[in-house]
Amino acid sequence: MQLDDLYRRVIMDHYKNPRNRGTFDGEGITIDLNNPTCGDRISLQMKVEDGIVQDARFVGEGCSISMSSASMMTEAIKGKTLEEALTMADQFSRLMKGEDLEFEYEDIEALSGVNKFPARIKCATLAWNAMRKGIVQVKE
Ligand code: FES
Repeated sequence: MQLDDLYRRVIMDHYKNPRNRGTFDGEGITIDLNNPTCGDRISLQMKVEDGIVQDARFVGEGCSISMSSASMMTEAIKGKTLEEALTMADQFSRLMKGEDLEFEYEDIEALSGVNKFPARIKCATLAWNAMRKGIVQVKE
């Protein structure tokens, strides 16, 4: 199988079977963010205790790239410290600039091809920007 096909399958799997889709009850922060270019939106919920992301869920509407990226991001940051989550967000930005990077949660690498489509980079980074915003909020 070609790498592109494999990546496409990973993306579609996250789109059709999103991890962490939904909301949780109880304490947490919610970040709502729009993709200004298309109006699609994500609402990300995060529960942080002792500097560690205990839970992350999302709801929203968007294309396969944005929703699969949200699925991957929420899966990747659970159990991580805020600093680790921010480092991952920085790495993801670099991936979107075309850098060849490996991630502990390998599915994220399936989005590496998005860097060739500038219009879609905003789709892929939507959830990650919401996460960054959430962490800023938690730290305040
Ligand atoms: Fe709207 Fe991708 S087209 S988030």
